[in-house]
Amino acid sequence: MHKPYLVVRSTLKVKNSGMRENVIRSGDMTSYQPVQVRRAMPSDIPAIFAIERQLFVDPWEQAVFLEALTYFPTTYFVATFEGAIAGFIVGALEDTGENVYGHLCNFGVDPAFQHRGIGRLLVQRAEHQFAFELASAVQLEVRLSNTPAQKFYRKLGYREVFRIAGYYSNSEDAVVMMKWFRF
Ligand SMILES: CC(C)(COP(=O)(O)OP(=O)(O)OC[C@H]1O[C@@H](n2cnc3c(N)ncnc32)[C@H](O)[C@@H]1OP(=O)(O)O)[C@@H](O)C(=O)NCCC(=O)NCCS
Repeated sequence: MHKPYLVVRSTLKVKNSGMRENVIRSGDMTSYQPVQVRRAMPSDIPAIFAIERQLFVDPWEQAVFLEALTYFPTTYFVATFEGAIAGFIVGALEDTGENVYGHLCNFGVDPAFQHRGIGRLLVQRAEHQFAFELASAVQLEVRLSNTPAQKFYRKLGYREVFRIAGYYSNSEDAVVMMKWFRF
């Protein structure tokens, strides 16, 4: 996890000489966070689609990303790095009548920004929103061959619950993973 960089706007004397002018005042520093997570907007779709095409052999169409935004505006997030889109997560809420589940439908981080904690931030933000909207668990499907993503999800507390044979367009099996919230 990244610690926010600290940008000092003025030259500060950090040694305390006992003189008033050497005290660091709150207005002298600004907390600068290069990575931010926010809700996705329609104008983000081309950048999200560009990342999707780099990551997946069977990418969603742009229209599907846009449609998902109209259905799930509260659980669809992007991560930005210094303002540029670095990753995205499309979450959905599913109500079975007995339980509400969060579903991670699509998720990826630009290869240039992977292994910096951005994926974890995106999943955690989606989880917070799912919990806020009274979900009791989160579910996702991941390709059987995508062992790096399975390791990533396991680190975040997800566990395999079952498999779906031939789930993907090339007939590859899906591993279904879940994480239960404990309130
Ligand atoms: C899976 C993915 C989203 C992870 O994003 P990321 O930003 O690189 O992940 P993070 O840096 O937040 O990693 C979080 C943790 O997962 C672990 N992790 C990340 N990628 C990993 C990998 N390839 N193998 C093993 N562990 C991994 C990290 O070590 C880290 O653990 P730590 O905090 O203890 O160091 C990214 O690799 C990706 O976009 N993959 C291709 C698309 C994909 O598979 N999407 C999921 C489809 S279901």
